[in-house]
Amino acid sequence: MKAPLPDGRVRIVPSLLAADFSALASSWAPLAAAGADWASVDVMDGHFVPNLSFGPDLVKAMKERSGAPLIDSHLMVSDPGAYAPVFAEAGSDWVSFHLEACPRPKPLIKKLKAMGCAVGVAIKPATPAAGLIRLLGDIDLALVMTVEPGFGGQTFIEGMLPKIRALREAIDARGRKVWLQIDGGVNARWVGPAAAAGGDSLVAGSAVFKAADPAAAWRALEAAGQEAFDKGWTRRPVAPRR
Ligand code: DX5
Repeated sequence: MKAPLPDGRVRIVPSLLAADFSALASSWAPLAAAGADWASVDVMDGHFVPNLSFGPDLVKAMKERSGAPLIDSHLMVSDPGAYAPVFAEAGSDWVSFHLEACPRPKPLIKKLKAMGCAVGVAIKPATPAAGLIRLLGDIDLALVMTVEPGFGGQTFIEGMLPKIRALREAIDARGRKVWLQIDGGVNARWVGPAAAAGGDSLVAGSAVFKAADPAAAWRALEAAGQEAFDKGWTRRPVAPRR
């Protein structure tokens, strides 16, 4: 499996949803030069969320012609069973789908892993952590939405911080190598709290691509995220192994 495992290094994952759609590869280039190696592709079907975005050919193009970043395809679609294998086939390193669209996810997780693709499961703000905690033995990435999925540029929902902490403690208690990805409204204000609560893969769209200097913004977010994660880590009471 090509997707890297969590290694204590916080990743700021630029979301292409906020990039210039007329120049995706050239928008990515300065971030790659700054050290970014992981991009998030938000896939929207106009049904699970009221927006339409990218198809699998974008993943293929980004993998082939833009320095081959790691790509996680975040499927905000009503039929992940149909589309997750398509995005795995297109070259995604992770494919994440929503628990709300796939209440019995294990067969799809198994199918994607058999294709050599790492698997994430995502939950919307209203969905409790329990459903994701039950899957920590099966997945490579747990995605906590900190905005209502569908659009970039929204404000981070502070009420999601306890859910992030609960997932971090569950991951640590099980000794699992599972990324805890946070997606939505991550910016200079919220990167610290999100990382201190335990997020180690922080998706940032507007805060990176709408900045005057996206590469500088990415570097600043990564430094702030790492500092907060490390501080939070030392203070975090790791639950006893079950
Ligand atoms: C929502 C999207 C956004 C995007 C990040 O469905 O998933 O969260 O990735 O956008 P910003 O960082 O602008 O909130």
